[in-house]
Amino acid sequence: MKYCDVGEVRASRVIVGCMRIADKPLRQVEKIIIEALKAGANTFDHADIYGKGDSETVFGVAVKDLGLKREDFILQSKCGIRQGYYDFSREHILSSVENSLKRLNSEYLDVLLLHRPDTLMEEDEVCEAFNKLQSDGKVRAFGVSNFSPAQIALLRSAGIKISANQVQFSLMQSALVDEGLNVNTQKAEAVDRTGGLLEYCRLHKIRLQAWSPLSYGFMEGVFVGNEKFPALNTCLFRLAEKYGVSPATIAIAWILRHPACMQAVVGSTTPERIAELCKAAEVRLSREEWYELYRATGKTLP
Ligand SMILES: NC(=O)c1ccc[n+]([C@@H]2O[C@H](COP(=O)([O-])OP(=O)(O)OC[C@H]3O[C@@H](n4cnc5c(N)ncnc54)[C@H](OP(=O)(O)O)[C@@H]3O)[C@@H](O)[C@H]2O)c1
Repeated sequence: MKYCDVGEVRASRVIVGCMRIADKPLRQVEKIIIEALKAGANTFDHADIYGKGDSETVFGVAVKDLGLKREDFILQSKCGIRQGYYDFSREHILSSVENSLKRLNSEYLDVLLLHRPDTLMEEDEVCEAFNKLQSDGKVRAFGVSNFSPAQIALLRSAGIKISANQVQFSLMQSALVDEGLNVNTQKAEAVDRTGGLLEYCRLHKIRLQAWSPLSYGFMEGVFVGNEKFPALNTCLFRLAEKYGVSPATIAIAWILRHPACMQAVVGSTTPERIAELCKAAEVRLSREEWYELYRATGKTLP
């Protein structure tokens, strides 16, 4: 496994996403945690809304059962999405973290992310809430998710240190790199969907975290082994054989190869798959292979 800094937090490049564990048996969740830690993936991604809180609850029970020391793993959670609206008010941020900590059986979160931009956010109010959480020892580092550069800049203008931005990114959802590869062309990929987010995050040392790294569309399904994407799969399977890993692991290695030094938030609930995907950190695709995979999705270079 390879590691990177998220603010002051040392976190694994492969993060275990916990969005799908709410209805999984406790033993399975324990196995996910054990296999992930064995493979070096020490970082677990949560949100207050995953399984209406049940994902955090089952995870909290599992770590207690396993008798893990809190400093041996990294906990990240998110807040700000409510039923039908977004809420970055001080009260909501503070109470959401309090509830997450109770469910997770933890005294603190390593990282807290604001889940989706709230256009009614007031940067000074968010700053106040974050300062309180930090001085109370409840959160070590802060970040956002699905934010544009300008929205991050707004929070930073209030003095908030933003250490991560979690966004959708995969071979089949690659807006982050598409626009930079097609600047000023007439192609559809030239549409500026992120406002230069990739470069903004690199310039400001904000760690990009790629969610749904094996999926296409908005969580429509997995592209690996999917007959809708024959050219991409031919390429994934060939490189998998070359590197002695699974095709899904190659798709994760494609994300990790980018010099932005992103993290990949994998969402599998199968312990063996998670262990396999962690091998992506040890695969370094060549420049030629990286672009070959990109082109195999059907996108062309100008
Ligand atoms: N910030 C945000 O707005 C946001 C949005 C969505 C997700 N997320 C985070 O990102 C994480 C990952 O999202 P995701 O679950 O959509 O990601 P994903 O890794 O693209 O998809 C995981 C799904 O793919 C299935 N899968 C099928 N074949 C697989 C294979 N060969 N290897 C691995 N998995 C395979 C898994 O099934 P099995 O479980 O049966 O293995 C699981 O249902 C979430 O857990 C959450 O933490 C964040």
